[in-house]
Amino acid sequence: MAERFEFAPGVTHAPGFLDRPAQEALRDALRDVVRAAPLFQPRMPRTGKAFSVRMTNCGPLGWVADERGYRYQPNHPDTGQPWPPMPASLQEAWSILAPGAPPPEACLINYYDSTARMGLHQDRDEEDLSAPVVSLSLGDSCLFRVGGSERGGSTRSFRLSSGDAMTLGGPARLAFHGVDRLYPGTSTLLVGGGRINLTLRRVTRPASLA
Ligand code: SIN
Ligand code: FE2
Repeated sequence: MAERFEFAPGVTHAPGFLDRPAQEALRDALRDVVRAAPLFQPRMPRTGKAFSVRMTNCGPLGWVADERGYRYQPNHPDTGQPWPPMPASLQEAWSILAPGAPPPEACLINYYDSTARMGLHQDRDEEDLSAPVVSLSLGDSCLFRVGGSERGGSTRSFRLSSGDAMTLGGPARLAFHGVDRLYPGTSTLLVGGGRINLTLRRVTRPASLA
């Protein structure tokens, strides 16, 4: 398995977790996902301002953002259709990167064009925070920033490149994170350039086994 670095407790980075053939296979699987569940334009709840990234999801639940708030729901906000299933390779990546965690329920697919970015935020709309958030990147590299669980604390930045995996878990599950910028032209994976980031999340608390 690819080498994994722990930047800070709970923040792991596995450069080249997916080799080129695996990246191509995932890209092709995502093409089918996007055909069934087109990218939509998320909006900030308070202001209605559009995000610079476009999104879609696969899996039983999907994350959406609009004037009604941030939430998970089983249907696409524009088409009303259920989200398409998660490709098996994503479930496999989860089992390696989040061993022992209950299965992922949502895979948020973010598409960044060359000028898109994402401000510092926490992933905190999940009822179950015990599993890590698992991230996979495809296409152009970006400058990723991660801090602590309090807004305004110190942050560290590193590049995420095509095929890299990252996790935020344990003490870093609620770490602030964001994408400062893309490095256009750094990957040939996506025709037309840009970056895709997938985040796999457990959303609900698993039913007790007792
Ligand atoms: C996110 O926080 O939803 C996306 C992170 C990334 O694009 O790497
Ligand atoms: Fe996030």
